[in-house]
Amino acid sequence: MRVRIRGSGRLRGELVVPGDKSISHRAAILGAMAHGGTEISGFLEGEDPLSTVRCLRALGVGIEGPREGRLLVDGAGVEAWREPAAVLDAGNSGTTLRLLLGALAGRGFAATLTGDASLRRRPMDRVAEPLRSMGAVVGGPEGGKTAPLTIRGGKLRAAAVELAVASAQVKSAVLLAGLQAEGVTAVTEPSRSRDHTERMLAAFGGAVEEADLPGGGHRVTVRGPQSLRGARVAVPGDFSAAAFFLVAGAVVPGSAVTVRGVGLNPTRTGLLDVLRRMGAKIRVDLEDFAPGGEPVGDVTVEGTGELRGVEVGGSLIPRLIDEIPALAVAAVFACGKTVIRDAAELRAKESDRIAGMAAELARLGGRVRTLPDGLLIEGGGKLGGAAVDAWGDHRVAMALAVAACAVGGGETLIQGTECVNISYPDFFRDLTLLGAGVEAD
Ligand code: S3P
Repeated sequence: MRVRIRGSGRLRGELVVPGDKSISHRAAILGAMAHGGTEISGFLEGEDPLSTVRCLRALGVGIEGPREGRLLVDGAGVEAWREPAAVLDAGNSGTTLRLLLGALAGRGFAATLTGDASLRRRPMDRVAEPLRSMGAVVGGPEGGKTAPLTIRGGKLRAAAVELAVASAQVKSAVLLAGLQAEGVTAVTEPSRSRDHTERMLAAFGGAVEEADLPGGGHRVTVRGPQSLRGARVAVPGDFSAAAFFLVAGAVVPGSAVTVRGVGLNPTRTGLLDVLRRMGAKIRVDLEDFAPGGEPVGDVTVEGTGELRGVEVGGSLIPRLIDEIPALAVAAVFACGKTVIRDAAELRAKESDRIAGMAAELARLGGRVRTLPDGLLIEGGGKLGGAAVDAWGDHRVAMALAVAACAVGGGETLIQGTECVNISYPDFFRDLTLLGAGVEAD
């Protein structure tokens, strides 16, 4: 699919974005591991969480829906999972593959997991190795470094796992295995990654402990074996989806965009801190905690058209890792230099987002250089419409759409936009509701 976008005037309006992708995966998986019914509302009906649902069904879990965001999981405990008759296909979804590996590590059968060409290129040794140290057998044609991977689980021993790079997916996989192991399993990260699994485990009756370490690290521990009980989870709007509209509102002068009912977990909202440092006018109204333990509220951004460049790195990176494509767009329209460092992980996402954003923003006239671990962006300059490509990556597609709205003149043609279905099937409709000139080609 191709989409044409005309540089637009101000963007104005209120939106509710679809359910959070990370939280949707976790609600389905914990529901499937728990005893009793789990009722999920706001479940993201995008391709990635649907891959999780398909894999869980193949493991014998009874699931109804999703229908209008409602998913009912009939949990009979992870002990009731059955050997799948076929290979489990995680599609484009790293979270599906990595979290399921963790849950399967304690099961006494073999399962093979694979995914699309992008997922099969992504590193899996970071999750296979800790699970092996707990007693699972994980292998594959590339020695278990990439999918397809076959895991044969069984009786696990608890482990102390140190992650070289903060990763919520790896942390969560180890915790899901740790729930099934005898003793205390600990995961230490150099800085804190998103804590949705920890919050949701508490909502499912699990016991998790967390500690900040002197020197900046973070540790999460679970004592196994533990069993979970079904829960009610209301999935908030996805901050990572809202991010595109917040950046659009910030860069297009005269705009005013409000996103309602969005997740405001502080391990996810680093972009708000950075946009404020860039000079954006942002108001946050924190409402409440949703069932499931996540903070929710409304965010409003007004476009002053006067953003300035910033330096971003260190422990902030895990708090905005998925928002860097959107942040790169804000930086291209800001005054002065933006430097993003410590973000080499971006090269191992659905695409190499460092290479992709640099190449495509350059086509629009942006002055962007790649760094091994980030981007160097000289803001300002003359930008205009051009033909660009989404690199098969939903977040690159949406970031380029925001850039296309903000360029001074001309039309931008974005190739390969069907990938937005991964996390936000109605993205272009919602962008149009704010006043953007979007046409499907
Ligand atoms: C996610 C964790 C992050 C993030 C991804 C979703 C999750 O990945 O980039 O989009 O749901 O746990 P890593 O764990 O690889 O950092």
